[in-house]
Amino acid sequence: MGALPAIRYNHLMNYVHKDTCRICKGRDLTRILSLGNHPPVDNFTDVEHLKNEKRYPLNVYFCGTCNLVQLLDVVSEEELFHGEYAYFSSASKPLVEHFRSYADDLAREQLKDDDLVVDIGSNDGILLQHLAHRYRVLGIEPSANVAEAARKKGVETLDGFFTVDMAKKMVEKYGKAKVVAANNVFAHIDDLDEIVQGVKELLSEDGVFVSESHYLLDLIERREFDTVYHEHLCYYSVKPLQHLFKRFGMEVFDVGRVDVHGGSIRVYVRLASGKPLKNSVRVLCALEEKAGLYTLERFSGFQKDVEVIRDKLVSLIRGFRKEGKIVTAYGAPAKGNTLLNFCGFTPDDLKYVTDTTPHKIGLLTPGSHIPVVSPDILKSETPDYILLLAWNYRNFILEKEKELRSRGAKFIIPIPEVEIV
Ligand code: TMP
Ligand code: ZN
Repeated sequence: MGALPAIRYNHLMNYVHKDTCRICKGRDLTRILSLGNHPPVDNFTDVEHLKNEKRYPLNVYFCGTCNLVQLLDVVSEEELFHGEYAYFSSASKPLVEHFRSYADDLAREQLKDDDLVVDIGSNDGILLQHLAHRYRVLGIEPSANVAEAARKKGVETLDGFFTVDMAKKMVEKYGKAKVVAANNVFAHIDDLDEIVQGVKELLSEDGVFVSESHYLLDLIERREFDTVYHEHLCYYSVKPLQHLFKRFGMEVFDVGRVDVHGGSIRVYVRLASGKPLKNSVRVLCALEEKAGLYTLERFSGFQKDVEVIRDKLVSLIRGFRKEGKIVTAYGAPAKGNTLLNFCGFTPDDLKYVTDTTPHKIGLLTPGSHIPVVSPDILKSETPDYILLLAWNYRNFILEKEKELRSRGAKFIIPIPEVEIV
């Protein structure tokens, strides 16, 4: 891994650098990607608060023992989630559809009337809202403003972070859960042991833990480096997850790939039963092995791949700006901020970024300080080029913006490779 740049550590109080693996506690950890120092991706800011912005190292490591790919620089939750959290899952229509069908899967495969479903990191109720009419549902959400949005939809939601203690209190009050879900949050947890122990407390004997996270195989094969950010501590494949749950007397019994967030993995976990696992587990492990995800060598070219994307984007966009073209960005997802900061873009490169989330509009993107504006602006202004930061919704957005494209606007797609459409 000789090509990786040296790390420049800031002496900041709000983070720790771990030296053991989050799953197996081993120390055989090798850095496989360095993206530099970045502010937390959800800390949209304003002119008044620019001076408070802090940056933290963003580096990815591979564990030679259990093969978990992970960050070791852990920024405190207070720093990551301070103030009003701006991410509302339901701001993205395709995601709402996805969770509707996910809820249908759970209802069909796992649930009977009166069962309790708990969602850890339930956001604005995006999953539970589809189950609340038929089952008992309970969300847990640390961001107060997001939890409030869920309650307004009729989804009972507790404030706070999930812990063993909280699980025990929930069992006392509500009884055991048939399903515990944790979507796009299980990869965001530093103390996995606490969560798995809590889930075990909460689940009934025949209960199922189900979790979706961004999938390492898609990240590597499609060079989705921008999905690396401080909140996102683990980049899962099946094998390390098996290792984790085994330590707690549990087993991954079914897995599936899901076409959301640029490629995700859904895992189903139960108390170790001795019953046969679904074939899907063996099939996906074999695919991961074949793809080299269990070897350090597989990751040796990743830094270079990522730098190629960065260099292409920078030269393309700065070239257009020299020609006097208007270049903007579309969607201000968390991952967009990793991309903007890694490329070093500023408002001189990208005039503004449009986003549908009311809480982001009027603010500046963290680090790159590009103004976030309502998509309404595109009704009266036609940029020459639009960098699609929400590239995971590529088809949906290209279709939705047909009229804008017919006026001459072209989209720059950054991932999996730079392309203009
Ligand atoms: P996500 O990939 O984490 O769901 O974030 C997508 C972001 O992009 C979110 O801030 C909402 C925004 N967005 C738009 O502005 N327009 C769109 O059409 C879609 C689908 C998303
Ligand atoms: Zn490990």
